[in-house]
Order: sequence, then C-alpha cells, then structure tokens
Amino acid sequence: MDNLGSLKRSHYSAELSTQDIDTTVTVMGWVHKRRDLGGLIFLDIRDVKGIIQIVVHPEKQAIFAKAEKVRNEYVLAVTGTLTRRSGGNVNRDMLTGELEIDASELFILNDTLPLPIQIDGIAMADEDLRLTYRYLDLRRPYLQKIITMRAKVTSLMRSFLDAEGFYEIETPMLMKSTPEGARDYLVPSRVHPGKFYALPQSPQIFKQLLMIAGFDRYYQIARCFRDEDLRADRQPEFTQLDIELSFVNQEQIFDLLERLMQTIFAEIQGVQLPLPFPRLKFQEAMDRFGCDKPDLRFALELVNFSAILQSSEFKVFADCLASGGVIKALAIPGGAAFSRKQQDALVDLAKHLGGKGVAFAKVAESGLETGISKFLSPDEASGMIQAAKAQPGDLLAIVADSYDVTSKVLAYLRNQLAKDLKLYDPKALAFCWITDFPLFMPSEEGDGWEPAHHMFSLPKEEHIPWLDDPDKIGDIQGQLYDMVCNGMELSSGSIRCHRYDIQKKIFDILGFSEAELRPRFGFFLDALKYGTPPHGGIAPGLDRLIMILSQAESIRDVIAFPKTLRATDLMNQAPSEVDEAQWQELHLKFSE
Ligand code: AMO
Repeated sequence: MDNLGSLKRSHYSAELSTQDIDTTVTVMGWVHKRRDLGGLIFLDIRDVKGIIQIVVHPEKQAIFAKAEKVRNEYVLAVTGTLTRRSGGNVNRDMLTGELEIDASELFILNDTLPLPIQIDGIAMADEDLRLTYRYLDLRRPYLQKIITMRAKVTSLMRSFLDAEGFYEIETPMLMKSTPEGARDYLVPSRVHPGKFYALPQSPQIFKQLLMIAGFDRYYQIARCFRDEDLRADRQPEFTQLDIELSFVNQEQIFDLLERLMQTIFAEIQGVQLPLPFPRLKFQEAMDRFGCDKPDLRFALELVNFSAILQSSEFKVFADCLASGGVIKALAIPGGAAFSRKQQDALVDLAKHLGGKGVAFAKVAESGLETGISKFLSPDEASGMIQAAKAQPGDLLAIVADSYDVTSKVLAYLRNQLAKDLKLYDPKALAFCWITDFPLFMPSEEGDGWEPAHHMFSLPKEEHIPWLDDPDKIGDIQGQLYDMVCNGMELSSGSIRCHRYDIQKKIFDILGFSEAELRPRFGFFLDALKYGTPPHGGIAPGLDRLIMILSQAESIRDVIAFPKTLRATDLMNQAPSEVDEAQWQELHLKFSE
C-alpha cells in the first residue's frame, strides 16, 4: 500500500479538458472498472465529479505490476500525461470520453473487501441491501449526482435569499409539542422526570415569533420531524426551506417563490420557467382534476355529467343524484380499445380507493356503445359525448358517488392513465399555485370544524365578517396557498393571523377556549398580543424539489441517509434498544 504523503490532486476527472492535453495531471479516486486489453490495462478512475480513463503500458513494469493487482473500488492516485484517446476508443457517453491519462506513477492508497453491492452499471441489488450499505450505494454516480445537486440547490437558495435581504436564523430542535397535524417525535427529559421535548414538525411557531421580534425576513433550511405513515414522497425527517416575511401579501410571496424557482431551474437544469405560474382556485382544481395537486402536464380533465343525467332511468345514476352525489367521468383517449382486463383493473383501483366501481361506455361514430350505453337515452348519450369533447375510439370511464369519493377515484385514475398511456413528456415541468382553500374543514367526528392548514392562518379579508355568522363558516376561505409541480405538493403556506381578536374567533369556531390552548402554546398567544406585524410565509419541501429536479422516483434517492418505509435506518439499525441505565436515567419504564 502506498502513502498519500505530499501527493496532491491536480484535477477532478470532470475538470480535465482537451486544453490540458500533454500536461502532467494527478487524479485520485476509486477504480470504477478495470479492463486488460491486448497487453494494456485500462482503469476507469471515479471521483465525485466523474470518471476518467487511465491507460497503463506494460513497458512501465513497476506500475504495470501494481495495476495488475488492482480490483474494483481500490483507492488510487494516478499521475500521468493527459492524451487524446485513439479513434476507436472514444466514449461519447462520458464527459471525459475523448481523454485518457497515460500513467507514469500509480499509488494504491487502499484496497477493499469484495463489495456486497455493485457500483458500476445500473444492475442494482435489492434496496434493503443497498440501504444497509448506504455509504457504498452513495458511491453510485446516479446518487452522487443527486446529492451534489442538492448541495448546489441549498447554496443557490441561500445566495438568492441573502440577496433579497433575508436572515438565516436557527430555531430549536428540542421544543414543546405544537400541533401541525402529524404525531410528534418525543424526547424524554432527564432533568425533568416525566417531561418531554418534541422534535419540531416544522419551525412554524418560531418563525412567527421571529416576525413578532421584528426580524422581518427569515429563512432556514430546516429539518422537520413527523411520525406519520410514509409514502414514496414522505420521510419521517425531511427538510423544508422555511420562509417567513413581515408586511407582505400573498402576491408578493408568490413573486418571491417564482423567482427563486426560476433561478434554481435555470442554474440546475438550464430551463427558463415561464412566470407567473398559473393559478387555480381550490374549488376549480377539485372540480376539474378531482384533487388540490393537479398534474398539469396533461389535460384529461374530469367532466361532470350530473346535469345531463338528472332524469336518468338508470338506477345507479338516479340513486346517486337523489342522495346528493355527482356523476363525473374521464374520456380516455383511445380507451375504446381497452381489453376487459384493463377495464377490470380500473374498477379494482376504484374499489381500492373506496369507490363502488367504474361504469364504461365506448365512443363510436354512431354514439355510445357497450357498457352502460343501453341505459342511456340518445339525448343523454350525445350530451355526454359533447360535454366530454370525446372522439370516436375514446372510452368514457364514469364514476357516480359522493363528490369526495368521485373526486378521489377519478383523480387517481387520471394520474394512472396519463402515466400508462404516456400522455405527457416525463421531462416536462408544470408548476401552479392553488389558492382560496377553505379555512375550516368539517371535523372527522362531523360535529365541528378543524383548521384546513393550521389554526394561525388569516381568512381572506372579505370573509373576516363571516367568522361571526355560523351559517358561513364552511364558506370562509383562508389566505392559504400551495405550490404544486407535476402533481406533487411542493410548498404550502399562508398569510398568518396577526390580530388577536380574529385569532380568538378562530379558536372559538374550532371549539377551543384560550384556557384550553394555554398549556399548549400560551407563550405564542401572549406574543400575538404584543404588536404582531402582518406576516406570512411558505415552506417548500427541499426533498420533493430535488425529486423533481432529478426526476427521482423515490424520496430515498434524494436524501443521503434516508429511512425505509417502516421508518428504520437499515445501516445503523435505528431505532434501537437502549441500556437499562438509560431507561432509569430518563425515568422511563417499558410496558408491553
Ligand atoms: P406543510 O406541512 O404543508 O406546511 O409542509 C410544507 C412542505 O413540506 C414538505 N413535506 C414533506 N416532505 C417530505 N416528507 C414529509 N413527511 C413531508 N411533509 C411535508 C412538502 C410540503 O409542501 N409550517 C407549514 C409551512 C408554512 O405554512 O409556512 C408546513 O410545514 O413539500
């Protein structure tokens, strides 16, 4: 084994260019691949920025003997002359594909055990094995590219916001449990027996306190912790670019975020996002797309057949409308060619989502055919074709159920069908803002209200008087907004309630007295009464943003050390048991 000594890298592989040809260079990294060809040994050396080919000639006996010993993932330093590869050897897929280093010195800095997972190529081991050896999996160029891109994005965020006059301020990790919808991760206190800190679900309350404290423009690249069921776009700990500003309105926040996104996408992807992003009111998004995070890369909008079918004699439709439900559909382009099996798969999906099923009718030159067409009058059939702007060859997939179930089923089918039928370019970007969310949602128990986002959001100014009218509560819209991209909720935010009198009314509607709320956030309620400026903010999810920038399918690909869907870290086995002494120190007892 050789020592590094005073040896210095002259270039990262990707920095080498034809301008450096004939100069002596030194690169350092891992052996990505080794090939013995016609008496020559070729080594691909990989570093964090790329790969460069090394050629070792047999005439250089000492280093040739060393090169013969080298295996994949040995750690090397190589000095040599940069040359142009001979014709047949050029690799157009590689950044440095025209170049190679003719080695004059070769240092083996470390060897390796045989690897449990493969690093070159795309053939990949099972994800659990890769997560167990995450430090090796992270050597794969695919993950290196994403994690280094993530560093570049956070650096761009900082420089953009610094230039806009923001202060980066840290808020506590050990805090008091405050409600944000998910379960808290709790940390027992040693010093205060029976008491717990909570890890922040987001810095929401602290960032508002920073506005009350007068910092005016705050941001933080903030780690958030939520003990909730995990999905492809959710991790128990994740990162937000948390932002709060004083003396702002919704439009100013949209403008700031749009320019920030434009800067990031221009720098990272070289694309110029058109501004402003389209805006959709919550209700319109629900009506047209069935959800509040519509993927706008493709059309395939929901069509409402309720009016056309109001006198339908088909029992399923008549019963649905009589009970206050809706009949909506998708006109699937070319779907008339779907097999029975494909239709059944859509029905199964609908049932899985809580729906009763999906009814079908094929669109032909002569009108509707097959499926439920025999239950429809000619007027109804032609009305439906017209409303759906359907073409011969399309398939109407119809759902009759409550508004919520119909929306949920069709929104899911819409996304699934668009993917299956390749209705969009996977590289396309479709941003939008969803606005005018209701401030309150009926509570799950059905006897009251709960906040749609969080209880500190301000109603739209014109709806503030409605706080006093019990019949209007469900109609009150908040100054709430989401930024959505390609069907993913990327950011959420709101203009906050800075006036205690309004806040108090909101608490009343939610069924809380100040006395009840006091133990949870009395400090915050007090603060609100001491000259709170109008303020608002937003928090883009960093992990989701990187998923979009890198087109990663899984959130685990954009986090250096992610957790599994069961919230475990397979590499270090967290969560794990702790010593009896730690239980005692923390005044805890385990009960089965
Ligand atoms: P919200 O809870 O909507 O708002 O979160 C904001 C954004 O954070 C991201 N996000 C997640 N990313 C990965 N894994 C998760 N489990 C997860 N949960 C949320 C999403 C989401 O849009 N305090 C408010 C923000 C505000 O009002 O300023 C908040 O946390 O991209």
